[in-house]
Amino acid sequence: MHGTMFREPIGNLRWWWAKCRLANSNAFVWSGAVTLPASQPFRQAIAAKPRFAPYERLAPLWHLHSRRGSPRYERFLPAIRRRFRVALADVLDLACGVGLMAARLAPDCRRVVGIDSNRRMLAEARKNCGRHANVRLVAGDFRCVDLGETFDIAVCAFDSVNYLADEQGFRDVLGTAARHLRAGGFFLFDALGEATMRKLAGVDSHFLRSGPRHAMCHYFDEATQKSRTLVSFPDGNEEHVRIPIDPPQVAAAAESAGLELLERFRDVRKLRTFYVLRKPSEANPSAGFAS
Ligand SMILES: C[S@@+](CC[C@H](N)C(=O)[O-])C[C@H]1O[C@@H](n2cnc3c(N)ncnc32)[C@H](O)[C@@H]1O
Repeated sequence: MHGTMFREPIGNLRWWWAKCRLANSNAFVWSGAVTLPASQPFRQAIAAKPRFAPYERLAPLWHLHSRRGSPRYERFLPAIRRRFRVALADVLDLACGVGLMAARLAPDCRRVVGIDSNRRMLAEARKNCGRHANVRLVAGDFRCVDLGETFDIAVCAFDSVNYLADEQGFRDVLGTAARHLRAGGFFLFDALGEATMRKLAGVDSHFLRSGPRHAMCHYFDEATQKSRTLVSFPDGNEEHVRIPIDPPQVAAAAESAGLELLERFRDVRKLRTFYVLRKPSEANPSAGFAS
């Protein structure tokens, strides 16, 4: 009797705690960067440097950024399994980067497929996932890739969904997730909104211990409403352009992809928003869950 009475509140508490842990998984990890108010003289000094393609210099260093900054989705999957009484055996990692999360997911999953469009990132991912026979890495664009396979959950971590040219691109990513999910499957991702991009534009982060020294300077372009980040190395800069994604865009894209938004939550600093979406099925016509 008491067991039944307490099961639901305890289940709700565990779910809330799992969301807090995911959203703040890196809050107490030193990023390796000294962050200072944006320095115009520094920005002017780096502006004329040669331009590299995205991740040309960052790819061999990205494991340091990903290790410190990428939210720990692999620790959240057990909470989804428990809450919704699902297996989550097959995982699709969209924009897998250098594959650290795929490698962390592998021991608890039957199959992990990582997709990324950047060949340098994939080359690093092959090294990082080499010892996991159940991880497969595929070169592809997360807006349109079609593997002809389905998964229990798709993930897209560390604001990778912001790396798009426009809102249509974001709708396409949700379409990709929906296409690759079994009925009742989940899509979990995090995104940066416009307020965060504007906040970041006020600071420069200098990475002193992440391999070669480099700095990240964020700008918010009012004309295009996009964020530009110059990652500055001694011999040149990489430019990373991202669009802001906020809850209204997620709601619209989820509806057009036929996905249901189950959860939305943020970290304590209100920088990053996490979304849990689900593909409806007859058994789960709406947000029903077990505690
Ligand atoms: C910020 S990194 C995050 C990587 C990884 N998810 C992590 O947690 O470390 C963004 C990744 O998105 C990938 N990406 C950007 N545009 C993409 C696209 N159109 N299709 C697939 N991957 C893309 C980049 O190559 C890069 O690896």
